[in-house]
Amino acid sequence: MDILTLNTNLLKQYITHEEKAKYAEAVKEIHRKMNEGTSVGADYLGWLNLPLKNQETLLQSIETLAKEIGERASVLIVIGVGGSYLGTKAVHDALRPYFGKTGRTPEIVYAGQNMSGAYMQQLLRYIEDKEVFINVISKSGTTTEPAIAFRILRAYMEERYGEEASERIVVTTDQMKGALKQLANEKGYRSFVIPDDVGGRYSVLTPVGLLPLAVAGSDIRALLAGAKRAAQESTDDHLERNMAYRYAVARQALYKKGYKIELLASFEPALKNFHEWWKQLFGESEGKALKGIFPAAVSYSTDLHSIGQYIQDGERMLFETLLHFNEVTDDQGIPFDDADRDGLNYLSTKTLNDINRISKNGTALAHADGGVPVIQLELGKLDEFHLGYLLYFFMKACAMSAYLSGVNPFDQPGVEAYKSKTFSLLKKSGE
Ligand code: PA5
Repeated sequence: MDILTLNTNLLKQYITHEEKAKYAEAVKEIHRKMNEGTSVGADYLGWLNLPLKNQETLLQSIETLAKEIGERASVLIVIGVGGSYLGTKAVHDALRPYFGKTGRTPEIVYAGQNMSGAYMQQLLRYIEDKEVFINVISKSGTTTEPAIAFRILRAYMEERYGEEASERIVVTTDQMKGALKQLANEKGYRSFVIPDDVGGRYSVLTPVGLLPLAVAGSDIRALLAGAKRAAQESTDDHLERNMAYRYAVARQALYKKGYKIELLASFEPALKNFHEWWKQLFGESEGKALKGIFPAAVSYSTDLHSIGQYIQDGERMLFETLLHFNEVTDDQGIPFDDADRDGLNYLSTKTLNDINRISKNGTALAHADGGVPVIQLELGKLDEFHLGYLLYFFMKACAMSAYLSGVNPFDQPGVEAYKSKTFSLLKKSGE
């Protein structure tokens, strides 16, 4: 079974052979520059070969600490925003059970992604009778939301655990700079480094994601092995032989034809937070210089009964990327009912997952008929290895897609605007 397949059969009418040939040339050139480290923003291409490196020492220290946290805590609070937590949440939520806790590993809760007083108060109440560890994650070490959350939670930990607090706080940040690094040095917190050449939204396969995922009981070696396979399989500069580049080109070709919004759609609710990671990756990498595909996401069947109406019949500016996976561990049959009052006996030889797959195929055909270009991605299975592959696939595709549209995939100048306005308002109100 393939790890990931990309099916663009439903795009034939949108992209001509001539267009593809032009893109193929551009792809070759960008690929060369990325590999030589001469593309725009090349200082942040560290993620490209990271899964190919031997990281044994790092993995062992992550696993040792994860074990200790598992023994000493029932809750790990991950403090971080954007790329500093979305990858963890994406993978963790994709793999955890829908109901109840994940075995005996600590529960992962998040802070520092919002400024809600209610959220923080309730979090403080929630952890009151639980043993707590904190992993505060910020590449810059200066981002306001996690910095404020950390100030509050650090005060709580010091009050509650006294000197032991510094054993229970782990910092993941830049090697040298930033307020967080300074604090870690002063207080003696254990710390992990986010490599200089890996930006936030490309950092899930660094300690940013690896430590909390290891604490949550995920097999981080399998995650990295999947990413490694994706890295090995995406080294070809030939468009037709590089799946990540084919996806990037399909997106850009559709964008040029006026399809300005991409909907990532999946039929498994567990992928909802994977969508959030994907949205940040593509939105922050491509949405600049007054251009970029707007990344949105839908969860089916739920959204087929809400904005499904718009997708089928509304303004034609959407294209859809359906993400499905093949093998499912849990499944449920449909019982046969003698009376058959609901008329569903015709489904009694099928399982819910069979019906889900048929519904995915039906949705693809209906949306394509309705004028929505549909790209289909099929993941072999939902586990760490396959998710690692998928994460890397999207990062590589995203970099190529951003370069094809002529922007730097690794900066986020627009994020600064809200920060400076907020700061000036905060300073004014503090005077
Ligand atoms: O992709 C990025 O670089 C950003 O989205 C960051 O992840 C986010 O702003 C958090 O930054 P930091 O890790 O420096 O706190």
